[in-house]
Amino acid sequence: KSKKKTACILCIGLDNSGKTTIINHLKSPESSHQDVVPTVGFNVEKFMMSNLVFTVFDMSGQGRYRNLWEHYYKETNGIIFVVDSADKLRMAVAKDELDQLLKHPSVAAKRIPILFFANKMDVRDALSAVKCTKLLGLESLKEKPWHICASNATTGEGLNEGVGWLSEQLQ
Ligand code: GTP
Ligand code: MG
Repeated sequence: KSKKKTACILCIGLDNSGKTTIINHLKSPESSHQDVVPTVGFNVEKFMMSNLVFTVFDMSGQGRYRNLWEHYYKETNGIIFVVDSADKLRMAVAKDELDQLLKHPSVAAKRIPILFFANKMDVRDALSAVKCTKLLGLESLKEKPWHICASNATTGEGLNEGVGWLSEQLQ
């Protein structure tokens, strides 16, 4: 049997957007009902998906840890960028972090697929994926393959569609 391909994935986005909940659900849907706590620094998770071995760096989104993100840009094969679609007040902060990501030399230099989750779609008055696309300025993001999915990390809705796209990009 051939050796399994591995992909290094960086999961980033503001604190409380749902990154750890998403990764927990992808890793094992049964365990995703457990309470999550804010991530300190980052956690590394490894699991099989779509015939790929995913090594996911689940980064903390808290302001004081965001400077850790860039240390992993060089190694990463793909990025999962999570936004809380119900957090309208901080959408501009999320866009600012995205802009900084895109202009970082290690990211700008390579073709790296970016999967966006417009998470917490279940929350009343959450913004649609289309609206998040506009607010994040994704229409002008031409130099990277990207995809956005509305998701609910607590039920898993939308996660498979997104990760399916990402896996295709990494084959
Ligand atoms: P940091 O580790 O601090 O960067 O946060 P995080 O992005 O990892 O967020 P986390 O997964 O810890 O989730 C934050 C809170 O949002 C938790 O209480 C989750 O249960 C909740 N949450 C996550 N995803 C969803 C969702 O899709 N819908 C709803 N309603 N709540 C969610
Ligand atoms: Mg977390």
